Amino acid sequence: MELVIASNNAHKAHEIKKILAGKFDAIYTLADINIHVEPEETADDFLGNALIKATTVAAYTDKAVIADDSGLMVDALSGAPGVHSARYGGEPVSDEKNNEKLLREMAGVTARGAKFVTTMVLLFPDGRKIVGVGEVKGEILTERRGDNGFGYDPLFYSFELEKTFGEASEDEKNSVSHRSRALKEILRQL
Ligand code: IMP
Repeated sequence: MELVIASNNAHKAHEIKKILAGKFDAIYTLADINIHVEPEETADDFLGNALIKATTVAAYTDKAVIADDSGLMVDALSGAPGVHSARYGGEPVSDEKNNEKLLREMAGVTARGAKFVTTMVLLFPDGRKIVGVGEVKGEILTERRGDNGFGYDPLFYSFELEKTFGEASEDEKNSVSHRSRALKEILRQL
């Protein structure tokens, strides 16, 4: 069985390949097999958006497809930015604007608990589906720390790593990350 990752994000592809390599004969990104689609993430939860991505890509291939949707959920903001994490700071999208908005919304807030969440969907050509959910808990700092990673990493202090994801090495982050946990949950069910 061959697998297509419904993404062109190099970080995601690397992580997925590392964890699922032994289970598939070959693993491709969309670019590898010349599929050019931009699924519209219109659902209001992570599972809905992961399913949109997986089914959109599945229409173009007879290989298995894996898709994910992730975001940051902040307790004091009732779970925002959630599915809107990528575009939280408005268009054009930028990590800088997203982090600025998060700091603004959290100004004066003392209970700063948050989690990153990933929902991952693996869709087989016969319609069979495996879902994995991964979470990592932490809190939102009042200023950025570290230059590693992407997105909200410099503001997200991981309780397990005792540093921000921005200060963590790639391996450290992957050892606790929402994405790797969702992937391991998929692997467990394979
Ligand atoms: P995606 O669904 O994986 O593309 O994630 C959507 C958005 O959530 C990203 O654009 C980031 O803003 C945020 N996000 C997801 N995962 C991470 C992470 O590991 N670190 C920091 N931000 C993340």
